[in-house]
Order: sequence, then structure tokens, then C-alpha cells
Amino acid sequence: MTEKKLKELLESMTLEEKVGQLVQCNAGQFIENTLDITGPEGEALPAEDLCRVMGSVLTFEDAAQARALQDMHLAADPKKIPLLLMLDVIHGLRTTYPIPLAMGGSFDDDLMTECADMARKESAACGVHVTFNPMVDTARDGRWGRILETCSEEPLINSRMGAALVKATQGEDLSRPENVACCVKHYAAYGAPEAGRDYNTVEMSERQLRETYLPAYKACLDAGARLIMPAFNSLNGIPCVANRWLMRKVLREEWGFRGVVISDYNAVGELVTHGVAENPKEAVRLAMEAGCDIDMVRNAYYQYLPALVREGTIPEKDLDEAVMRVLELKNELGLFENPYHGADEALEKELYLCPAHRDIARRAAEETAVLLKNEGILPFPKTVRRIALIGPFAEEKHLDGFWSRPGAWKDTVTLPEGLRALLPEAELMIERGCGAEIGAVDESGIERAAAAAAGADAVILTLGEEEGDSGEGRSRAEVTLSRPQLALARRVLAANPNTAVVLFNGRPLVLTELEEMAPAILEMWYPGTEAGNAVARLLFGEANPCGKLSVGLPRRTGQYPMPYNRVNTGRPKPQPDSRAFPFTSCYLDTPNLPLYSFGYGLSYTSFRYEDLTLDRETIGREDALQATVTLTNTGKRAGKEAVQLYLRDPVASVVRPVQQLIDYRKVALAPGETAKVCFTVTEKQLRFYDFDCREVSEPGRFELSVGWADHLMLTRRFELKKD
Ligand code: NOJ
Repeated sequence: MTEKKLKELLESMTLEEKVGQLVQCNAGQFIENTLDITGPEGEALPAEDLCRVMGSVLTFEDAAQARALQDMHLAADPKKIPLLLMLDVIHGLRTTYPIPLAMGGSFDDDLMTECADMARKESAACGVHVTFNPMVDTARDGRWGRILETCSEEPLINSRMGAALVKATQGEDLSRPENVACCVKHYAAYGAPEAGRDYNTVEMSERQLRETYLPAYKACLDAGARLIMPAFNSLNGIPCVANRWLMRKVLREEWGFRGVVISDYNAVGELVTHGVAENPKEAVRLAMEAGCDIDMVRNAYYQYLPALVREGTIPEKDLDEAVMRVLELKNELGLFENPYHGADEALEKELYLCPAHRDIARRAAEETAVLLKNEGILPFPKTVRRIALIGPFAEEKHLDGFWSRPGAWKDTVTLPEGLRALLPEAELMIERGCGAEIGAVDESGIERAAAAAAGADAVILTLGEEEGDSGEGRSRAEVTLSRPQLALARRVLAANPNTAVVLFNGRPLVLTELEEMAPAILEMWYPGTEAGNAVARLLFGEANPCGKLSVGLPRRTGQYPMPYNRVNTGRPKPQPDSRAFPFTSCYLDTPNLPLYSFGYGLSYTSFRYEDLTLDRETIGREDALQATVTLTNTGKRAGKEAVQLYLRDPVASVVRPVQQLIDYRKVALAPGETAKVCFTVTEKQLRFYDFDCREVSEPGRFELSVGWADHLMLTRRFELKKD
């Protein structure tokens, strides 16, 4: 449709029809007409008209339903403005790939592209027009249950992976039926709730916000994301959906964003609960004034916006602008010409869980697994005959993680399935031992599990956190393994030390006690559909672990928040980080450093880093320097290594981190092979926000290092010249 036609369409719309474009309900409410629309104002349309005016629907099931919803709506709407269909496709639709927190640990943007591309195809075939993805809330606190949805504690990873996902999902041309629009979320700083409790308030300096939290949203918008979702939380006193500074000043004015802003689920209505609006009508006014275009579910806009416009509180011009943004998105998606977009039942069947997609999901699960410890027992030889498979996840199918599609778990390959496929001759002895749920007490299965372990050649001990214990609204005050699991580990490891622990969890867990007793630990996070195959191949050496930690693992929950890029303080604790020193920044009862730091992860091969060289010692603002390091695979297996480049700015006008990841690259090397890994560093990477919140770089000395957080191996200095 031409721009002129769109304008004519807008001009032809009644007030109710315009408001309808800004309202969203879920498929159930839409079909059954159950959205509660009676409010004190009596302004809302009668229930039967809901289907006619509704602008968008979220959370539907499949292509058939997508078509049916569109048909229902178009039959009722004389203006024939198609519905927008939205869904949370976070880490795969039907073929589930690992949770984002695992994906970040791949340090491999191309892997993210491949996975997102697969999700795009399945989503488009399902009839999705908009996915509520990527979620790029930088998070440094494992108590927060939604940490699994972010790629990392490091904004650079969130920015790069988020941008890769946006590009792969949206493609070049949104009108093509195989492409899907992205909604980046949750703007802003939702990943930093006080005390790690979901939905809790966020208080932080503008400097911190701009430096650590805003860049990833901006990177996704720069990559072309068409929508953005303000977060549930209040930020420095103002709930994000009513935060004019965030949305009008930063988003629209500074960043020039012209796409659609959609609230989170009932976030407009919740302005009343936050205590910043007296009633829902005031909530609507605040959200509209702040620049929120669509009201997701619970229909506050639907009930009160017409009255606010009629009485002149909200200028009709503002309403028109918001409606136009929605119409433009529909137009860009080509919905006026093809309202079903990619919805295609036959293609759905063909794509879901097809071998090519399973293959991507399996590789992703393998390449995001982090080998935390290995005292020479892994990989197990494929000749083992008796394998004890123990623990709460031994036969579990729920290995997909939060935001996998309802029922997707039914297709997940379990560990016994994966092991039997790889080792058909081996005998499997399976004992659950105990449960993984928070507060579990039943230890009655432990002795049987220990007996099975004692009689095995190799033991796989699965531990972790139940799938439902991380995700939205799933915060924890202690991020520990349940007591029975630790008791199980003790008994099984005593019965047979040839035991590898395999972990399934959606957040960093405290592994301090486990680490002392287990000779090998493999962190799988929630690996998705191909879980069992990936685990089997990793444990028996068909695949070589190459994931790194996208977030540090604490020694104790009390260390949170625990960013790897901390500042030095005036009284840093001397290293080594083994005992407390009075009058330094330390804990009396716990070391400062995490048990495993950000960027850490082992392999079945070994890598040598040498000769970090810089091609120049000084740079000006317009220059670029090349940092090159020589990497050699010194082991006997092919492997991949995530080479990480860190920066330190030792003296600046404000305190700067002791280490800051500024670039990374995943490198594959055959045994004995050497590669020169080269990074380009420019003045832009040296910038930070100064005391007055201006983005600056300051001349002076800088250090570049390779390694991983808290273990920087090689360091070189250079200088940024004065202008
Ligand atoms: C609430 C969540 O916070 C958000 O991430 C999600 O996209 C919406 N619900 C829609 O399901």
C-alpha cells in the first residue's frame, strides 16, 4: 500500500477503530470474546466488536489458528485492516535451541545467526508476524530468574548476538512471507532488579545505565528491530512504560527510533499498582504521554483512550501518530496484500523438527556446553560397557528451558535416548536418586543410586535446577543445588569416582561444594530439543566442548551482584584471592572472585596463547590499531576456542573497570594447528560516559589483554594521543 493510501486509511478511521489498532489481546480472549471490557467510563465498545477493531493478537498456536484468527477479524472489519500476530519465540519455535544464556557462551555470532534463522523459518510458517525477541537485558545477578533469557552479563555479547538475531529474523525485506519482525525488550534495565527479585524496582545512575544497559537495546534497533517493549520495572522512580525520558528523550529523540512501542503484559494497567496513577484512566494517559503505542492485554487503552482523546487530554495527533506506526508496520509486513504472511500448515509440518533443524539444534547444544572441570576422566571411552545414569535429569524430557513452546518438551531427546543411539551395546543403569525441586527433602533413592554407580564402568550424574525454577517470576534467594542433590553427589562420587556431573540449569548456580568433590563437571544449561544426543556426544568425545561462561558462577549467593567488570575501589583486596584482609574491599567469609569467572571454559584439547603484539604503540582518534595473538592447538583433538580481548583504562576521570571485554572471536583449530587472531581496536572502543554523562574517550595509557576474566594471560600497552 502506498503512503498516501495509508494516510487515507487513517483519515477514514473512527476514534474507536484507531484505538483498536493500539490494543492487543491473546488468542483465547479474541476467539471467545472474553476480554473484560466493562469499565467505569462505559466508553468501551460492546464485546462483539472486539474482534472487529482489535489491532493485534498474541500467543496463538499454529498456522491454522493464525489463518482462522485473521479470517474472523477480516470478516468483521469493514476497513479490512489485518491483525498483527505476535508470539514469544525466544530460543526456537518447535525445534528448540539452547537458552540465550547458553548461546551467549558460544561467543559465536554466526551460531546465533544460524539458530535464529531456523527459528525464523519455523515462526514464519506458523504465521508469526512479530516475535518478542531478542531479550537483551544485561544481567549480573543469578537470583533473577530471567537471567536465562539474556545472552550474557556482558553488554557487548548482548549487543552482538541481539543484532545477529534481529538481522537473521527480519531478513532484508519484511514483506516476504518467510521473514518476521523483532521486538527488542525489556527497555530498560529490567535485568537489574533490586535484590534480584523479578519486577522489582531499579535504581541506577544514568552513567551506569548508558554504559552497561542501554547499548544492547540500541544495537538491536540499529540492526533494524521494528518494535521495542518497555520493561515492567520502575527505573529511578518511574515505571518504564510511563517513562518519558526513556521513551521520548532517549528512544525517539536521541536514537531516532520510528518503530512501534508495545507495553509488556498489562504494564499500563499496573501503573496503578506501582502507585503512579490514581486509576486506569490516568495510567493510560501516562503511558500515552510517554509514547507507548500498543497496550498489551487487559485493555486499559481500549476502555479509556477514546474518552481521553474526546476530552482533549490526549491530542488526536498523538493518537494518529501511534496508529500510523502500527499501520506502517502492517504495511511493511505486506499484510494488506497477504494477511496470512507466511502461515502455511504444510510448511510447518515440513520444517518442525526436520533433520536439518535438529542438526543445528544439536550443534548449538554442543557448542554452548561449558566444561567446568575435568581431571582427566572425560571424554569417557566409547568402549565402556556399564553406564550408570543417575540423578533427577536422568530421564527428564523437560530440558528446553523457559519460553520453549508448550508441549515442545515431548520431542526432546532424553539422555537415555541419546546414549543408546551413540552406544547401542552399552548397558544403562538408570536411577533418579532424588528430585531437583527447591526444598526437596526425599533422599530415599540415594542408596540405590550409589549401588548402581558402584557397579558401573562410568557414571553420569545429572544435577541442576528444575526447568520451572528459572524464568519469569522465578527469582531465588539462594542459587544452590537442592540438599538431596548434594547428598546424592556425595554418595555417588564415593561409590565411583569415575563420575562426570552434567548440569541442567537456567541460571548460574553455586557449585562450590560440588566442585570440591566432582572430578568432571559439564554445564549444559537447558540445551533444547537435541539435549540427549548432545550430552552423549560430548561425554564420549564425539564433540569437543567449546562453550565459555557468559556469566560468572558465584561461590555463594551473597556475592551478588558480581559483575566481572568491577572497578578497583580505593582498597582493592590483594591477590591471590584466598583469605580476607582487613580494611580492604572483601568478605570475611568468602573470596571476592567467583568460583568460575566470566569467559572461562575448558576443552578436551589445549590451547597456547603467545606473542600478543600491537602494530603501533600510539593511536589518534582516527586511527585503528591491530592486536594480534598467536593461538596454537597443542592437544590431540580438533577444537574451538573463543579468543577474548579485554581492555583496561588504568587512569581516567571516572573509575573504570579492571577488565572489559571489547571483542571476541571463535576460532577452530586442528591438532597442532596455529592461527594468528587479529583484532582491530579503534578510539570508539575506548569510550565511556564521564561524570557529566557525556560519551568520551580520554587520552592516555590503555592495556589490552587476552584470556578470560580474572585470568588475563598476555597484556600489551598503548596510548591514545591528545588531539
Ligand atoms: C511478559 C514478558 O515479560 C515478556 O517478555 C513477554 O514478551 C510478554 N509477557 C508476552 O508474552
